[in-house]
Parts: sequence; structure tokens; C-alpha cells
Amino acid sequence: MNTTQRPRYAPTLRRLHWLMAVLILLAYVLIEQRGLFQRGSAERAMMVQGHYWMGISIFVLAWWRLGSRFRSGAPPITPALDQFSAVLAKLTHLALYAFFIVMPILGMLTVWTDGKQVMLPLTDIALPALLPVNKDLAENLEDIHKTIGSVFYWVIGLHIVAAFWHHYGRHDDTLKRML
Ligand code: HEM
Ligand code: HEM
Repeated sequence: MNTTQRPRYAPTLRRLHWLMAVLILLAYVLIEQRGLFQRGSAERAMMVQGHYWMGISIFVLAWWRLGSRFRSGAPPITPALDQFSAVLAKLTHLALYAFFIVMPILGMLTVWTDGKQVMLPLTDIALPALLPVNKDLAENLEDIHKTIGSVFYWVIGLHIVAAFWHHYGRHDDTLKRML
């Protein structure tokens, strides 16, 4: 049976899309819910380290995904979008790709300048810090990291609402191309 007839994103892009969506969700949940555990507890440290590693994984996968995206492109949408929607979609996707790169970098810079550590999972080995401690800078970087994190609740929300609007409102194949 041939299921490759309808235009879809390349398999790598589809898999990376859903995997990264889950990692982003986990990155948010782990850091937002760390307050469930007391400061200084092992459980809280696990949540925070989990957040760091979700973010680092997103950073690594983003480069793979960008490479794959440049190679295989995006399939056309049927029926085609008007120019305004096409530009809005493009800008949202660009913002999301930038988010995959910028957020982890800001996070790492925050960790290093704050004198915190990223531990290799299940070991007591820390990744080397590439910057000296500077608490004022750390505070600024953390503020920017958190602000972008808050803004992207809206951007990601818009992206998801748009995907469902395409499918159930406009009845086009936007979503099916990603499944
Ligand atoms: C796309 C990836 C990431 C997302 C979406 C993200 C999101 C967030 C959000 C929303 C917060 C604020 C939590 C709050 O207000 O309480 C936060 C805090 C933080 N994130 Fe990230 N983050 C990412 C990657 C990283 C990475 C890779 C690191 C470091 C390795 C990191 C380090 C931190 C630190 C140090 C804080 C402050 C937490 C604290 O106060 O203990 N983040 N992040
Ligand atoms: C229920 C959740 C989600 C649904 C239904 C969904 C659906 C879609 C669909 C249908 C597309 C194709 C859009 C088009 O070609 O115009 C797409 C693309 C994309 N999605 Fe999602 N998405 C979801 C979650 C996420 C999350 C959480 C992120 C990251 C924060 C994300 C990032 C992206 C990016 C960067 C693209 C652009 C792909 C490209 O053209 O290279 N998505 N998504």
C-alpha cells in the first residue's frame, strides 16, 4: 500500500517536530512545577537538571532539524494560503526555530554566570563552565530567559490554534502534512 502520495513533511522533520514538541512541554513542566518540592531537595534538583537537559536536547535537535529542513523543504498547502497567512505562518515558524536556539543558550549562560552547574545525568560530574560567575549578569540573563519563556506560551499557543483552525476551520491539508 502506498501512503506516500499525499504531500507531507519528510519523515525526519515529522518525527523531530513531535519529539521536540514533547521536549518543550517537558522543559516547561519541569521548571514550572519545581515548587512541588522543597528547596535543596534531591527531587527539586532532579526537576531543575531535567529542565536543563530537555533544553540542551532541544538545542542539539534544532540544528539537525534545520539541516533537514533546508535539504527537504516544506510541502505545499492545498488549497494555497493567501499572502497574509503565508507570511504570518513563516514568521511564526522562524520565531519558533530561533526560540529552539536562543532559549538554551540563554539558559546555559544563566547557569554559568550564576555559579550553578549542569550535571551529567546519573553522575556527579558537572559540565565545565565556560564563563566566570557574575551574579548581576546572571540575574539579567535569567530575566530575559524567563520573559521569552512567558512570551512563547502565546506564540506556541497561536501555532497550535492555527494548526487546528487550518484543519477544522479552513479544511486544508496543513496538519495532515505533519502527521
Ligand atoms: C527551549 C528550551 C527552554 C525553555 C522553553 C525554558 C523555559 C524556562 C522557563 C519558562 C523558565 C522560568 C520558570 C519560572 O518562571 O519559574 C526557565 C527558567 C530557567 N531555565 Fe530554562 N528553558 C529552556 C532551556 C534551558 C536550558 C538549556 C538551561 C540551562 C542549561 C536553562 C536554565 C534555566 C534556569 C537556570 C532557569 C531559572 C530557574 C531557577 O530560578 O532556578 N533553561 N526556563
Ligand atoms: C498540538 C501541538 C502542535 C500541533 C498540532 C502542531 C502542528 C503543526 C503543523 C500542522 C505544522 C505545519 C505548518 C505549516 O507547514 O504551515 C507545524 C509546523 C511547525 N511546528 Fe508545530 N504543532 C504543534 C506543536 C508545536 C510545538 C510545541 C512547537 C515548538 C515549540 C512546534 C514547532 C513547529 C515549527 C518550528 C514548525 C515549522 C516546520 C517547518 O516548516 O519547518 N509545533 N506544526
